[in-house]
Amino acid sequence: MTTHPTLFVSGAGGKLGRKVVELLLERGYEGRIIAGSRQPEALGFAGVESRKADFADPAGLTAALEGVDRFLLISTDTLGEVRQKLHANAVAAAQAAGVKHIAYTSMPYPEPGIIVPMAPDHYATEQAIKASGLEYTILRMSWYAENLLQALPPVLGSGKWFTSAGEGRLSHVPRADTARAAAGALLSDHVGSRVLTVTGTAALTQREIAAIATELTGKPIEVVDVTDEELTAGLQQVGLPAGVAQLLTTFDVLHREGGLSMVTNAVEVLWGSKPQSVREFLAANKAALGA
Ligand SMILES: NC(=O)c1ccc[n+]([C@@H]2O[C@H](COP(=O)([O-])OP(=O)(O)OC[C@H]3O[C@@H](n4cnc5c(N)ncnc54)[C@H](OP(=O)(O)O)[C@@H]3O)[C@@H](O)[C@H]2O)c1
Repeated sequence: MTTHPTLFVSGAGGKLGRKVVELLLERGYEGRIIAGSRQPEALGFAGVESRKADFADPAGLTAALEGVDRFLLISTDTLGEVRQKLHANAVAAAQAAGVKHIAYTSMPYPEPGIIVPMAPDHYATEQAIKASGLEYTILRMSWYAENLLQALPPVLGSGKWFTSAGEGRLSHVPRADTARAAAGALLSDHVGSRVLTVTGTAALTQREIAAIATELTGKPIEVVDVTDEELTAGLQQVGLPAGVAQLLTTFDVLHREGGLSMVTNAVEVLWGSKPQSVREFLAANKAALGA
C-alpha cells in the first residue's frame, strides 16, 4: 500500500496560498492536505483540514505541523528583521515537528548585494532552510505579472512611462503560475533538495511591455528614460511616500541590471503546463488595465 505524504500549505488565507490549496484539490490529491493560516476559521475549503499557523507563535506552529511530511512555507508580507525572524521560527518549527521537506517562496538571486529590500529576508530564510538539514525545494519566484496591473493603468492614463529600467529585461510570471510551481513542488516525488527559479515565458523590456499594452488598449505610451534620482523624485511629486518611491526605484534598478531576467521552464517541470505569457495575461486582464 502506498501512503501519500501529508501536505501543509501555510498562508492559505493569502492569494497565493489559497490558489495552491485549490490546485491540490483540482489535481485530486489522495493524501491529506492541511491548510494553515492565522485565521483558519475564515478558510472554508471543503475536504481540507484547517489549522492555526502563525509564524509569530512557534509553539502553536510546531503543534500545527505535527504529522506533516511536506510543508509549503509562503513568505510573509512584512519586511526586514521581523520577517526574517518569522521565517526562522517557521523553519525551526518544521524541524521540531519532524517535517521531512520544506518548499519556500523566495526571489531570484537574493544573494547579498542585491538592491531590493526584500532580498536579505529571502537570503536569510534560504540559509536557515539549508542549515536545518531538512530536504528543501527553494522556489525563487520572479515578479508577479499582477504587478503590471498596478503599474500600467496610470501609465495608460497619462501616456507616459517614466522609467530608469533602460533596456533591462524582466520575466514576469502570473501569480497563478507560481502557485502551480508551488503545488507541483508539494506533489513532487523528486528525491533530495533543489533550488528552482520560477519565471514567465520571456524576459521583456519596459518598451516591449508598453507595446503590448498599447496593442491591447489602443492607447499610446511614450517610455521616458530617467535617472534613478529623477524617478524617485517624480514618484514623490505624484504623491507617493518617500519610502514607496525609493522601493519602486529599486525595482527599476533590478530590472535594468537584469536581476530578474532569467527565463526557466520550472512551472512546466513542476506542474506540466507552461505559464501564461505577459501578452496572454494582460489580454485576460484587459479590464483591469483601464482601471
Ligand atoms: N513575486 C512578487 O512579485 C511578489 C509580490 C507580492 C508579494 N510577494 C510575496 O509572496 C507572498 C505571497 O503572495 P500573496 O500574493 O499571496 O500575498 P498576500 O495575499 O498579501 O498574502 C500574504 C501572506 O502572508 C502570510 N502571513 C503574513 N503574516 C504571517 C504570519 N505571521 N504567519 C504566517 N503567515 C503569515 C499570510 O497568511 P495568512 O493570512 O493565511 O495567515 C498570507 O499568506 C507575499 O507574502 C510576499 O512575501 C511576492
